[in-house]
Amino acid sequence: MKPRIDQPSHSEVTPKPFYMDRRRFLAAAAGLGAAALSVERIAELLSPQTRAQASTKLQASRSPISTTGEKLTPYQDVTHYNNFYELSTDKETPAKLADGFHSQPWTVEIDGMVKKPQKFDYDSLLKVAPLEERVYRHRCVEGWSMVIPWTGFPLKALLDRVEPSNQARFVAFTSVSRPSELAGQRRDVLNWPYKEGLRLDEALNPLTLFTVGLYGEVLPNQNGAPVRVIVPWKYGFKSAKSIVKITLTDKMPATSWNEANAHEYGFYSNVNPQVDHPRWSQAKERRIGELFKRDTLMFNGYGDFVAGMYKGMDLRKDF
Ligand code: MTE
Repeated sequence: MKPRIDQPSHSEVTPKPFYMDRRRFLAAAAGLGAAALSVERIAELLSPQTRAQASTKLQASRSPISTTGEKLTPYQDVTHYNNFYELSTDKETPAKLADGFHSQPWTVEIDGMVKKPQKFDYDSLLKVAPLEERVYRHRCVEGWSMVIPWTGFPLKALLDRVEPSNQARFVAFTSVSRPSELAGQRRDVLNWPYKEGLRLDEALNPLTLFTVGLYGEVLPNQNGAPVRVIVPWKYGFKSAKSIVKITLTDKMPATSWNEANAHEYGFYSNVNPQVDHPRWSQAKERRIGELFKRDTLMFNGYGDFVAGMYKGMDLRKDF
């Protein structure tokens, strides 16, 4: 990544998917021999449902649980420097291949130790709780970080709907499995589908965000459309993308990175500058777009919210 000088503000960023929809409207209009109609007039003629789908904007209120005072990472970097191994193991290819992944229609099944197992379609997921915009630091285990305005609601609101039973202790997330659309899944780089997990109290922590958007728009495919979790005090790989299933269980669930290398990727994976990765230090990080490294903060700076959950634990052992 080259350091950037021209960092656009949130409002200056052109919402590309919306621009593409305008083009689609125009193409449709031309095909119908209605080229003289304005884009606005064509939008008016479409059914309300079609109009809603055409918009990629999400209505959300700014959450008080937001990191303030840190510059947002530009939309272009957030959406073109990705880890999405289902598409590719390099950072730039996910954005290039993203159009081949169909993230609609979508359902998320919630099962296991719950009183009310349920399947939610995308529209019902959006109605679970009011959407909030939350700015979080995003720290990858590889040593880079970003600051991203996510849109979502606390995962707790979704879990409350299914009523976890008393035996439930952990929450397992399963990402999409669709090798026909996801080139990376045709190779054995990880045990597919991507699996992640949290302890139930971590999943219910107010910071844990069931995430449907970024920069005020629906999630781009390469960022884990249409729904993912964001767990900001943990290394980025704990924040599973494109989730299709959430299972409540009484056993610590298997996770893809732990299966790939248990010595390097523990179940907890809390951001911790004092516990190095076996192959590199975690004391510092490179904020994408900045030249110099900065110190990594314990729990990525979210200790006030989360440190209490790990009281009495040896975080070197439970890394
Ligand atoms: N989820 C799935 N399903 N597949 C992945 O490859 N990569 C993880 C995490 N979630 C990954 C995933 C890693 S390593 C990181 S750092 C973050 O997603 C990256 O999220 P971003 O691309 O939105 O920044």
